[in-house]
Parts: sequence; structure tokens; C-alpha cells
Amino acid sequence: MAAQEKRKSLQGLWSSRLVFILAVSGSAVGLGNIWKFPYIAGDNGGGAFVLVYLVCVFTIGLPIMMSEILIGRRGRRNPIMTMKIVGEEEAGQSWWQIVGISGVLAGFLILSFYSVVAGWALAYIFKSATGTFHGIDGPGVEKVFGDLTGNWQILMMWHTLFMLMTVGVVARGVQRGLEQAVRVLMPALVGLLLILFVYAINHGAFVEALNFMFRADFDRLTADSVLVALGHAFFTLSLGMGAVMAYGAYLPEGTSILSTSIAVVFADTIIALLAGMVIFPIVFAHGLDAGQGPGLIFQTLPLAFGQMTGGVIFGTMFFVLLSFAAWTSSIGLIEPAVAWLTERFHMQRPQAAWLVGGITWVLGVGSVLSFNLLADFKIWRPGKDPGTIFDSLDHLASNLMLPLGGLLIAVFAGWVMCQNATSEELDIGDGGIYKLWRFLTRVVAPAMVLLIFLRGVGLI
Ligand code: TRP
Repeated sequence: MAAQEKRKSLQGLWSSRLVFILAVSGSAVGLGNIWKFPYIAGDNGGGAFVLVYLVCVFTIGLPIMMSEILIGRRGRRNPIMTMKIVGEEEAGQSWWQIVGISGVLAGFLILSFYSVVAGWALAYIFKSATGTFHGIDGPGVEKVFGDLTGNWQILMMWHTLFMLMTVGVVARGVQRGLEQAVRVLMPALVGLLLILFVYAINHGAFVEALNFMFRADFDRLTADSVLVALGHAFFTLSLGMGAVMAYGAYLPEGTSILSTSIAVVFADTIIALLAGMVIFPIVFAHGLDAGQGPGLIFQTLPLAFGQMTGGVIFGTMFFVLLSFAAWTSSIGLIEPAVAWLTERFHMQRPQAAWLVGGITWVLGVGSVLSFNLLADFKIWRPGKDPGTIFDSLDHLASNLMLPLGGLLIAVFAGWVMCQNATSEELDIGDGGIYKLWRFLTRVVAPAMVLLIFLRGVGLI
């Protein structure tokens, strides 16, 4: 594309490099870090799982994040059109848009169940603040959680509120909506997490928690847990579905893709580990079990908050933190679809945001009902026991669609795009760092994703 004019983003650009880092970290740091990571680490035995997850993040996640940003900035459109345009430019192939299409679909699927869990977080802000957990016992927290998830009307209400919050931000556009939100919410999130961390160091079973998180016990690692670790690496970094590509489309020329990606990957990893180091010390200090599944932070933690001094304040803070994290992620989940509607069909942004929000809201009903009316309705899943609608959506999107999308993105950036194009976008010369990125992108990431993927679904 050297000779022709660079394309311009139709949605405006991020105002600074810092805002871009905040926005991508905002999308990355979410329920994945604070709700999902601790509970899947707990379910999969801790240490060894954490290690596999870290390896996936740095050898697969980081190079793919760079790839998504560089493809996005090159195409300067929503992921569907970007993959088509850059595919045509680089190889005369337009079918690469399938990656964008699957990404937009994954965004719908993920947000539909994400919003339900985010709704629990909103509900728990009020429960903590009004002292529901004060002096509560084990059966008590189970009942509070069961009463919430068992009541589909109440779940619908929180799911609706969260979708309204998401659409409200995205409708306002890149600079007035997304930027404003992350500028306020991300610093608040880090501040809250640090306060809770200091509390956990002083009052929790900190050493026991560190042991649990970092002592690797490979006997407990199964093919499925390696797939879960890989899927989670994609999920937590928002990769494999064009979301980071969409954000990359708004990145000003000349901003370093390498350093921004490193910043985001570190921020996301540190926050996930910090979340674990807040949650597990509190869980262990109260003699509770780490392998509790999705209810971990909604059942075990409130129990602990109910017993500790200042629990009302710390508990409320924790669920505000969780809601903020979910909010800055949900806007990233619908941005690709919203950008696509505005660019492809010339819809106004607010209309597009309402439409996407509406469709996701309807899909979310399936997840809402998985906890009550349809709790016994189980769906077949490749390489796994049948699960509820909620579990199956999560598995389909996180463990299948995101790794496959990521695999195609890596192949595209590593094999389809010519070396000139990628090195021009990355702008780090053609020395060791560029060569390392290219090797990871061409060989390591695709091979690892393919292997883990086939093994995880039971094909090898
Ligand atoms: N990374 C988010 C989290 O950890 C979830 C997520 C997955 C996401 N894919 C995304 C967020 C795309 C925004 C965009 O909770």
C-alpha cells in the first residue's frame, strides 16, 4: 500500500497512546481476570495451571496482540472489512473476512453471558453495601447466591441494567464514550485493587495463597485444563475475535505497537495475579475451598467479608471493582459489531449500539435461564461433558472460537501479509525483535494453538 494514501479511520482516533493502552487494558481486564481466572485456577489445581496460562500469554498472546493491532491499523475499518481489505491487498483473497465475521459473532455470544455475570456483580454491590453479608454463615451465602441466580426476573433486571450501561457508553463514540469511560474507570479499578491487596497481605492467609497459586503440581494438569488455560489466555487478553483489531483501527500512525502491547499484556497479567492474591488469601484465611467454580467470588468471598472488620466497606469496594472491570470490557465486546454496522450500512452510531445491545440482550436470556428454569437443559460439547446454555456458550466462544480465530490471525499476519507490510506497521526494524515476533507468529503460536486445540477436543 506504500504508494497510495493511508486510509483514515471513520470513527476518529484515540487522543493519545496512554488512552489506547487504557482502552485495550480496559477491554482485557474484566470478569476474566477477577471472576474467571481465580475460579478456573482453583478448579484446575492452581500452580501448574497458572504456569501454562503464563506461557500461553507471553508466547502466544503477546505476538497475536501485536498482530491484531497492526492488522487493525493497516485496515482502519471494523474487523470484518479490515480482514477483507488487507486480505485483498496482501494476497488478493477476500475470504479472510470470515475471521472478522466469527469475531463479531463471538462478541455477541460472549457479551450475552458476560452481561449476566456482570449483573451479579451489580447486585452484589447493593447486597454488600446494605450489610446482607454481615455475620453470615456458609449456608447463608449459598442461599443469597441461590436466591439471586434462581430468580430469573431479578437476573433479567440486572442483565438489562448492565446492557444499558454498556450501550450508553458505546453509543457516544470513541472519544466521548469509550475514552471517557476508561479514563475514569481504569485508575479507579487499580486503586481499589491495591487497597484490597494491602488488606489481603495483612489479614489473609497470604503464604498459603502464594503456595496454591505458584507451586506447580503437574499431576493435576489434564489435556482439558491445558485447553482451558489456552482459551483463557485468549479470553483475558480479548484476543482472537478482532476486538483489539477494532481498537487498533483507531490508533494514530507512529504509535509503537510493541511497547503498547507489552504494557497491556503486563497490566492484564499483573491484575489477574493480584486478583488471585486478593481472593485466595481471604478464602484460605476462612478455611474455605478454592475449587468452587463460578460461585467462588460470589459465595466464598462474601462469607469472608461477612466475618471481617470493615467487611461492608471492603465487600462493596470489591464488587464495585468487579463491575467497573466488566463495564470497560463489555464496551470492547460490542465495538466491532457497532463499527461494522456504521461502516458497512452507514447506520448512526447510537442506533447501531442499541441494535447490537438489543440482540445481545435477547441472547442473554438463554444464560439467565440456565441458572433457573433451564438449569437441567444440557447441551453436547466437543471433548467435554454436556453443559448448560451458559457453560456451553462460554466453552464455544472462549475455548473454540477464540483460539481458532487467533490461529487464523497469526497465520494471516505471519504468512499472508508480506514482510514489508508487517515491518512497516510494527516499525521496529528487521532485527532480532522483529524476527522473534515473526517466528512466534508464524510457527510457535499456530502450532501450539493447533496442538492444544486438537488435544482439548479429543481429536489427538
Ligand atoms: N478480556 C475480557 C475479560 O477478561 C473478556 C473479553 C473477551 C473481551 N474478549 C473480549 C473484552 C473482547 C472485550 C473485547 O474479562
